[in-house]
Amino acid sequence: MNKKTIRDIDVQGKKVFVRCDFNVPMKDGIISDDNRIQAALPTIQYLVENGAKAILCSHLGRPKGEVNPKYSLKPVAKDLSEKLGKEVKLAEDITGNSAKQLAETLKEGEVMLLENVRFDAREEKNEESLSKELASLVGEDGIYVNDAFGTAHRAHSSTEGIAHYVEQAVAGFLMEKEVQELGSVLESPEKPFVAILGGAKVSDKIGVIENLLEKVNKIIIGGAMANTFLKAKGYEIGSSVYEAEKLNEAERLIKAAEEKKVELVLPIDGNMARIPEGAELTVDVIENALKKETDITNMIEETTKGFSILDIGDKTIKMYEENLKDAKTICWNGPLGYAEAPSFAKGTQSVANIIANNHAKCVIGGGDSVAAVKKIKKRAIENGEDPKQFENIYLSTGGGASLEFLEGKELPGIKALEDK
Ligand code: 3PG
Repeated sequence: MNKKTIRDIDVQGKKVFVRCDFNVPMKDGIISDDNRIQAALPTIQYLVENGAKAILCSHLGRPKGEVNPKYSLKPVAKDLSEKLGKEVKLAEDITGNSAKQLAETLKEGEVMLLENVRFDAREEKNEESLSKELASLVGEDGIYVNDAFGTAHRAHSSTEGIAHYVEQAVAGFLMEKEVQELGSVLESPEKPFVAILGGAKVSDKIGVIENLLEKVNKIIIGGAMANTFLKAKGYEIGSSVYEAEKLNEAERLIKAAEEKKVELVLPIDGNMARIPEGAELTVDVIENALKKETDITNMIEETTKGFSILDIGDKTIKMYEENLKDAKTICWNGPLGYAEAPSFAKGTQSVANIIANNHAKCVIGGGDSVAAVKKIKKRAIENGEDPKQFENIYLSTGGGASLEFLEGKELPGIKALEDK
């Protein structure tokens, strides 16, 4: 990475503002996946061990600029305290009296956490006044560390603005690792390089497909976005969700792939459910629906009316496995079906399984894809398998950020940091 990191500067005795991404999934006030907290530890521990005074900052959810206890970082402060084996005091505010007082009395090696920075409406607008207030917490010779890769695609006060008002602005270890891992896949992938893209919308992935067409040998498509491609190729897709206004774009991408000699691999069969007309697509509705598996080429209006493709079928899973067999580099972003509903999670889980048993260098981003691989990894380790077998797989903490990185965009949260 061409940006300075905390390794390049002296942090001893200094106040250091660390932007982390503690935007973790919560269920009834309990953290249901602590991956992002775990991933932030190396930077925090380094600062503690090197006598810095660490002021941590993060957002949680989208509280829309208002204080909302539902989005308090209290559970994160508690979890961090346990993980670090030392108390992480939570300020009651972001740049108010509580935060200022805690920051003022912070001793070397101590860690504090500000309350959810998105409780302040100025954060997402990247308002200068908030950027300056945040910077003032670390004082004249203060340091800013951005370790929030997951939020690096947002130009907000705590991810971008503040960098302009501190003495030094550098990257943390997680940021460095993410850029190295994702960057190596884009810059020097060992071939064959296969990308797997899923998720609901083609519109979210156009930039990524375009950038990857220059680098990969194949792009495997799944999820509801595959429906738009199938429709663009003239297939009947019943009542499946697709983006009518993106059909031209899908056609253009199919042509571009042909020209670049990149194989665009689309599903050949689908697992479908008959969703009652007008019903909202929820797990309950889906699970209670009539289901069937059909070859895409056999889909005709009479038999598919009312049915929606919600997952790739068994033949597609086999075909994807074949396409991934010889890959030396794989990147994956987005689920291949409606993975929240157990009956339609098979495609995503099977691809996760194929990847877990593959020796290719794999970089995986996006909540569902990462969760599917984590589940397999956890089960394997519990069954006594060697965790080393997964060393080829990198699970990114970035969803949207990893996508924008794969699009080849320069992320504002990284751009604002000092060059080496
Ligand atoms: C994420 O979860 O992708 C990041 O924390 C960014 O969150 P946001 O999409 O609400 O900006």
